[in-house]
Amino acid sequence: MVERAMGGLERLFEPRSLAVIGASESPEKIGHKVLANIIADGYRGRVYPVNPRREEILGLKCYKSVEDVPDEVDVAIIVVPAEHVPGAVRSCASKGVGFLPIITSGFSEVGRVEEERGLTSVARASGARVLGPNIFGIYSARASLNATFGPRCVRPGGVAIVTQSGALGVAMMGKTALEGMGLSAVVSVGNKADLEEAELVEHLVRQEETRIIMLYIEGVRGGERLVETLVRASRRKPVVVIKSGRSRRGAAAAASHTGSLAGSDEVFECIMKQCGVMRAQTVEEAMAWCKIFDAGGRPQSEDALIITNGGGIGVLATDACERYGVRLYDDLPVLREAFSPLMPPFGSPKNPVDLTGQAGAEHYRRALEAALEMPRVGAVISLYCETAVLVSSEFTQVLDGAFRRYRERGKPLVFCLFGGSSTEEVVQVLRSRDVPVFTEPYEAVSCVGALHRYARSLAAPLEAPLSPEVRAERIEETVAAARADGRRFLYALEARTVMEAAGLQMPRSSTAWSVEEAVAAARRIGFPVAMKVVSRDILHKSDVGGVALDLESERDVVEAYEAILHNCRTRAPKAVVEGMEVMEMVPPGLELIVGARRDPSFGPVVMVGLGGVYVEVLRDVSFRALPIGRRQALSMIKDTRAYTLLLGVRGEERRDIEGVVDVVLRVGEVLRRCPSVTDIEVNPLRVYPRGARAVDVRVLLSESSGEEGRGARE
Ligand code: COA
Repeated sequence: MVERAMGGLERLFEPRSLAVIGASESPEKIGHKVLANIIADGYRGRVYPVNPRREEILGLKCYKSVEDVPDEVDVAIIVVPAEHVPGAVRSCASKGVGFLPIITSGFSEVGRVEEERGLTSVARASGARVLGPNIFGIYSARASLNATFGPRCVRPGGVAIVTQSGALGVAMMGKTALEGMGLSAVVSVGNKADLEEAELVEHLVRQEETRIIMLYIEGVRGGERLVETLVRASRRKPVVVIKSGRSRRGAAAAASHTGSLAGSDEVFECIMKQCGVMRAQTVEEAMAWCKIFDAGGRPQSEDALIITNGGGIGVLATDACERYGVRLYDDLPVLREAFSPLMPPFGSPKNPVDLTGQAGAEHYRRALEAALEMPRVGAVISLYCETAVLVSSEFTQVLDGAFRRYRERGKPLVFCLFGGSSTEEVVQVLRSRDVPVFTEPYEAVSCVGALHRYARSLAAPLEAPLSPEVRAERIEETVAAARADGRRFLYALEARTVMEAAGLQMPRSSTAWSVEEAVAAARRIGFPVAMKVVSRDILHKSDVGGVALDLESERDVVEAYEAILHNCRTRAPKAVVEGMEVMEMVPPGLELIVGARRDPSFGPVVMVGLGGVYVEVLRDVSFRALPIGRRQALSMIKDTRAYTLLLGVRGEERRDIEGVVDVVLRVGEVLRRCPSVTDIEVNPLRVYPRGARAVDVRVLLSESSGEEGRGARE
């Protein structure tokens, strides 16, 4: 029997035998192209076309059914019309085929979800795994296998591509060939009925020949596993991701700030950073990064050096350095000593080192050599604007030679050559020799930025997640009581119980049902006090005038009580007022928001950012997938502009950042430990030089217990 697939994906990437179900003699058909590619690109295993209407296809004996093949079949590529796919899958299951890449479209992407589920369950019951459906196939350099209907003559190399978009995947295969980039694997995942990115990445990261993994993702499913996988994978190999879909559609209707701020793209962006994965903005950028990672070398210092023969292009590159977070080496005496002797007197040894338009190949050679010997220079960006001084062939040799010297020493060197046909000639020759050369300074600098970001993420030690102590049973009791009352949110007093059970201090408060009770509560708590309406119908209290602050006296309390009632009656006439919360007035401080919710893709996530009433306007927030540790919590705070304010501006005292970290971890822990809580949000969290106080807390509940667990997997 075939070695079954459940254990690993080796047989998918290195099949000893494969069948093409739906192979065709007609050259325009996909079933023909796939088989022709398999043969043309030199697959080393045995190939069996399957088509009941043919005896032979492309010189190979053809079988009526996969079950008739007199051999084990590791992989069966299915390329028959959708209505015949279930039958083909059943035959594969009974034959004991290991992997079924299903090229055919017309399943869940057009709403035929059940039909798609049916394929997976038949396959899985026999121990087989499905890739797709709705894919363009799979390429694996290890087996010289090009089972796609993409381009032929794929160049084997170090980049593995896993793509959800078929059309883009095919285009990327073509583009990599044009750019001289070598591929170790290309996997189209399509509808991801069974095999998903996480499992494929887990396999590819173990493959020796794969040096870089590039993912094109449209939507994330099983995000918790993906995060776990990517955190580990990116430690071993650079992982570059492109994700489409930056729109915030759908987020606006969310019931909490955290929900409305958690547009899927923002969450994705932050979580990729958490994973140490580099997100590119475009396919071109992703490919450029793959090229630079594949060229080898890692910056040993944060400082980069630019060598140029033109001031203008040098300035452009300097601007790009600012944009991509590349720091420029600026020790002038060292630069002067190293470069002044190598340039005309009117050149500039300052970074960018300007060799002037007079520079010839030899000037570049010596300058690049000098930069290689500077230990504090982590990476070099070498720019060139076409002049009449340079002879292409000599220049090509110098750049090629310099690149090889740098590679031996592990120092990254990127070229950007800008000019006409003679420059293009140099570019083409260098590319064919795998030298990373670009024609646009921003592209070259973006690559160096990616190298630095990756180096930084590797330098940050992996940390174990923290689980601060939280009295989960106490929280669940409170939640159960609210639910028994038919609510999907907690009242302020209940939210306070939750916070206290999570080990967080809240301002003193009490709920009043009459103006007399409000006055008595204010006296008990001590002036000044704040007052807030209690109503299940009013989510954003300050928007309707449901909040009064700084009430200094009993008279203030009476007036505020009346004013709030009046405001609610006029601005939210349908809302039922269920009381008035009287609260200790918390002194002003820097206002942050800390929230946690269940993301439909990534499961429990936590958020931090600049809080207060402008939170949705400023959108200065950052997210992480839970669980996290203190360092990750701090890193998410650092991602926001609020961090600069926490450090203190214009002589202000530094605020209690560790206190904020603690709130982030505890709020996150409540969400993780209490399945019925869907959203928890502290806004504002007032942060002082010593300590932080949660002024307002909102807790939302799931419809029925346990329902939310589904969110992450759907
Ligand atoms: N077993 C084996 N062969 C079968 C079969 C079966 N059960 N049923 C049909 N066939 C044969 C057909 O006879 C035909 O061979 P022929 O040319 O010798 O007659 C061959 O399989 C293909 O069937 P055909 O009906 O001609 O379909 P097609 O080639 O026009 O289309 C797909 C088939 C799968 C390509 C098409 O349905 C499809 O899904 N296209 C979209 C693919 C795509 O874009 N995927 C995503 C990319 S990102």
